Amino acid sequence: MRAIRYHEFGDPSVLELETVERLSPDADEVLVATRAIGVNPCDTLRRQGLWGDELPLIPGSDVAGVVERVGERVTRFDVGDRVFGTIPHLNVSGARGDRQGTYAEFVVAREDRLARLPDDVGFDVGAGLGLVGITAWRALLHFGDLEPGQTCLVHGGSGGVGHVAVQLAATLGATVVATASADHAPTVAELGADVVLDYRRDDLRDAVTDAASGGVDVVLDHMLGEYAQFDIDVSAYGGTVVAIGGNYDSPVIEDLTAAIGKDLTIQPMDMFNEPNIDVVLERLAHLLDVGRLTVEVARTYDLGDAAEAQRAVVEDSFPGKLVLVP
Ligand SMILES: NC(=O)c1ccc[n+]([C@@H]2O[C@H](COP(=O)([O-])OP(=O)(O)OC[C@H]3O[C@@H](n4cnc5c(N)ncnc54)[C@H](OP(=O)(O)O)[C@@H]3O)[C@@H](O)[C@H]2O)c1
Repeated sequence: MRAIRYHEFGDPSVLELETVERLSPDADEVLVATRAIGVNPCDTLRRQGLWGDELPLIPGSDVAGVVERVGERVTRFDVGDRVFGTIPHLNVSGARGDRQGTYAEFVVAREDRLARLPDDVGFDVGAGLGLVGITAWRALLHFGDLEPGQTCLVHGGSGGVGHVAVQLAATLGATVVATASADHAPTVAELGADVVLDYRRDDLRDAVTDAASGGVDVVLDHMLGEYAQFDIDVSAYGGTVVAIGGNYDSPVIEDLTAAIGKDLTIQPMDMFNEPNIDVVLERLAHLLDVGRLTVEVARTYDLGDAAEAQRAVVEDSFPGKLVLVP
């Protein structure tokens, strides 16, 4: 099969289109004929060697496609099922995860990494949802305990995680304040944000405070190094700041007393620690099915153009997700 692999860490040019052996599914695994592959910023961190992966590696966590074969212990899927999911492959949290990344024509995945893709939903949408959907779900629902009527601040509301988080928070009945580049504000508003603020505004802190009367109950922060003190300042008493990324080694907290006075929780999290990926995927699939959730697919690329897609995912400004097509 054709797959993208890299044999050394480095810039996008290390990604090579190769012909590699197709794996057979183990007893609890499914072989998926890939139709679309989501591209995530973490794919580029791994490519640079920041996760200490063993090489060579087929990158990628997100996939959508059609079940080609099932292992003998697989109970949830049959050949021909349309599926999507996300695969914590290799060296995640120090343990070996699944056997293969997703930038390939065929992917073996444990059945509990997948869910059925609703009939009317495109493979590109399914491929874009897995990783960011679980991240947003875990952040807002598992760690944020977001409730209807509360106020949620989503930094980077047009991003992969952000645009799903905006939709989940709106569906839940929260008041959603999001930040985004001005160009993408209309998209973020259409997805359900009550207020969208340009993150480049000099008076952003005051604008969020005005928009969130009584303070923000749950913050989804993808750049804690930049926004730690900001989050503390705009939070309500008893609020939660869920931190999913961004310079954890240098968050600038100038006034910790404000956080103490508010009994704040600052909660870093990693979506790959989610023990029930399949359960969350099934709930996300339901929301896709009933039209309460979608994925903005900004661009698709041929599998062979993975290097360009990985460059773009960190350098370009676009709403939603970039997707590869094998
Ligand atoms: N912990 C976890 O489990 C987990 C899971 C998923 C992702 N992550 C991390 O979370 C981050 C976001 O992931 P993603 O997939 O959503 O990335 P993404 O699709 O690239 O989105 C990033 C968003 O941040 C916006 N942004 C850029 N500079 C900003 C600023 N100064 N203030 C506010 N927003 C800004 C971007 O807008 P413009 O492009 O318009 O500037 C873009 O909308 C990444 O660092 C990723 O590695 C962590």
